[in-house]
Amino acid sequence: TDPSVIRNFCIIAHIDHGKSTLADRMLQATGVVTPRQMKAQYLDRMDIERERGITIKSQAVRMPWNVDGTDYALNMIDTPGHVDFTYEVSRSLAACEATILLVDAAQGIEAQTLANLYLALENDLTIIPVLNKIDLPAAQPEKYAAELANLIGVEPEDVLKVSGKTGEGVEELLDRIVRDVPAPQGKKDAPSRAMIFDSVYDTYRGVVTYVRVVDGTLVPRERIQMMSTGATHELLEIGVISPEPIPSKGLSVGEVGYLITGVKDVRQSRVGDTVTNQQKPAEDSLGGYEDPKPMVFSGLFPVEGSDYPVLRDALEKLQLNDAALVYEPETSTALGFGFRCGFLGLLHLEITRDRLEREFNLDLISTAPSVSYNVTLEDHSEVEVTNPSEFPEGRILEIREPMVSATILVPSEFIGAVMELSQSKRGEMKGMDYLSEDRVELRYRLPLAEIVFDFFDQLKSKTRGYASLDWKADGEQAADLVKVDILLQGEQVDAFSAITHKDKAYSYGVLMTGKLQKLIPRQQYEVPIQAAIGSRIIARENIRAIRKDVLSKCYGGDISRKRKLLEKQKEGKKRMKMVGRVEVPQEAFVAALSSD
Ligand code: GTP
Repeated sequence: TDPSVIRNFCIIAHIDHGKSTLADRMLQATGVVTPRQMKAQYLDRMDIERERGITIKSQAVRMPWNVDGTDYALNMIDTPGHVDFTYEVSRSLAACEATILLVDAAQGIEAQTLANLYLALENDLTIIPVLNKIDLPAAQPEKYAAELANLIGVEPEDVLKVSGKTGEGVEELLDRIVRDVPAPQGKKDAPSRAMIFDSVYDTYRGVVTYVRVVDGTLVPRERIQMMSTGATHELLEIGVISPEPIPSKGLSVGEVGYLITGVKDVRQSRVGDTVTNQQKPAEDSLGGYEDPKPMVFSGLFPVEGSDYPVLRDALEKLQLNDAALVYEPETSTALGFGFRCGFLGLLHLEITRDRLEREFNLDLISTAPSVSYNVTLEDHSEVEVTNPSEFPEGRILEIREPMVSATILVPSEFIGAVMELSQSKRGEMKGMDYLSEDRVELRYRLPLAEIVFDFFDQLKSKTRGYASLDWKADGEQAADLVKVDILLQGEQVDAFSAITHKDKAYSYGVLMTGKLQKLIPRQQYEVPIQAAIGSRIIARENIRAIRKDVLSKCYGGDISRKRKLLEKQKEGKKRMKMVGRVEVPQEAFVAALSSD
């Protein structure tokens, strides 16, 4: 296809503003999907995406569209919508010349819209502003068109108004894409370069890699090379998706499609990497490649110790489809054998856990999520700590924690509430702008550890649901952090250790000892539950003994009867974990480690 008739674009939108629905309408309007084939949210392939209603993996579809007698090829690249996947979003954007900035006409701009808009502007994309859901009675198209126009510096009349539900305005939008989106530029005769913006493992075909060709041409049967890893493969098949894969004789400048090399592991086909020809390689890669960096770590342990091999196999399988998932074996005195796993964020953690439990029939305990700390020891050596139980004792010169820059959007009446919350989370304000009379954008730099757990929930509850939040990684910063241990009867329970800011150590100690006191049943002797920083106890609760009650039946003091009774009592406690001499029910771990 000649580059002059190609248009590459994506859609950025806040969650639930209707991106998938609009994409469906475009597929219909261009005839790529017949009404009979149409199922809701055609692009969301994985079941789990369907259930959660979010898009995890981006994909690309080619749609024909005729304007004034010329046939154009529109490539729509789907972008993931959640902050955990910012890097994948940035690569999808880099594969396009333009983006549709889609805003719900009843909601207005939200934080994710803004954060993604900034990303698009960094990539020099043409922005097509569109208001969606104009069929809604609550829609305020005039108000929000003005807001949107003001934000990106166009006239309110330039903002298109559509409905993904009724299809109104969708054809105008397609015309507008042909008119406003620049045709791709690239060197036809140069060594080939294509950027990978997604790769997905398919049981039958192995890894399917989505690419945008920048220079040259990729053809079937040639040997290709991945520029960051140096790995070479034979190009078995290349083609476009419309809406199913259609093999072609090759892809050249500006084209978007898929390729298959037969590899079985997505880590051999990494998002952001550049594909070139092995014999005639390009000199420079396209740039922008980054290794996926896990941000949140948690231990995963099978409830049944004998499930450990099943968990190991399951993680191995999941990793084939998820280059961002990392894990290594971990042993906990409290929870036995398991794995320390790294995730892009909490959603990624939840999805992975869900899949492990559902697809592999596992019951899992996950330990409290932790971020990764860089520690400089007194001898100036550096260690990275992703597991609180591996926190070095004493000997510490400096601890640095990961930071994020956050964008928060709220109605102006909630500015005070947001400031208060952000301050309590050790946030530093970076700026504030009015988007319109009554809506404000606040920018903060915050420790990742403070926002990754319940910040969003608290933000929502303090702003009656009106606030929206987006964030991205923003370096690291030294902080006064300590490890808080929890001790049962003087023995440390590694699964409950946490790294917190010094000022918050006390409240963590009180919270955990209080929770555990309620969760652990009485034992035959008194069990002190303590929270400690090093050897200093900062909180304490007691579980009182029950021995008297059990043995009160045998007045006589017959020793063997007594023993039998105690034995019997033990049998009823199969699903207990022994922590030192204390029996802790499985549920106690689950409940104590849950975030509420
Ligand atoms: P993903 O992030 O890709 O999952 O998509 P999305 O969250 O941006 O939006 P999705 O298409 O899933 O739509 C969110 C909700 O809004 C769904 O319940 C849709 O039925 C509804 N919706 C989408 N477009 C319209 C519209 O034009 N009008 C009305 N009334 N509802 C819409």
